[in-house]
Amino acid sequence: MTDEGNARTEVSAYEAANGRTPALQTPLRQLYDEHAPLRQEMDAIFELAHGIEDAPLRQATARLAELAERVERFDANLHRHSSKEEDLLFPMMARYIGRDSGPIAVMEYEHDQAKQCLRLFKERREDGSQLTDPSTIAEMGRLASDAVVILMDHFCKEEHALFPMANTMLSRQELDWLEKEFERIDEQGGERA
Ligand SMILES: [Fe+2]
Repeated sequence: MTDEGNARTEVSAYEAANGRTPALQTPLRQLYDEHAPLRQEMDAIFELAHGIEDAPLRQATARLAELAERVERFDANLHRHSSKEEDLLFPMMARYIGRDSGPIAVMEYEHDQAKQCLRLFKERREDGSQLTDPSTIAEMGRLASDAVVILMDHFCKEEHALFPMANTMLSRQELDWLEKEFERIDEQGGERA
């Protein structure tokens, strides 16, 4: 059937772009691959968060409770991933291309922006007193959605610009060192020794 044929050959712009990405060295490939499960979590978060303020209050409150749990899990998983970039990859690349402007400055700024949204979300949740207040629900939905929007765009930049740049810029020794440090971070559940 023609329809089946079309469905099978249909490739998203994202997949098409990934298909053109040159083979990344192991530690960069690892960072790249860690984006996929984080993206899945972000899809679920966005679905819950976006337009939460339009739901009837009882439903919105239940949605917020689920959203808060998902955001907490995501925050921990994101930290495990982003600490590899912030503590190791970005400083290493900054030795070549600087840190005050250019790609590393942009990447760090976007990490900060996303973290700020997640931190404010967490503060509202921990406060707890306003979790049935429509304006707090709307604000928390906005904070979670904003974090997702920032990070979705950020991941694309890393995948299509930053990681390929690191792939050609970093030496074999630097890449080997990153690989070992990433292993150590993973063994220690996301923290550096
Ligand atoms: Fe990343």
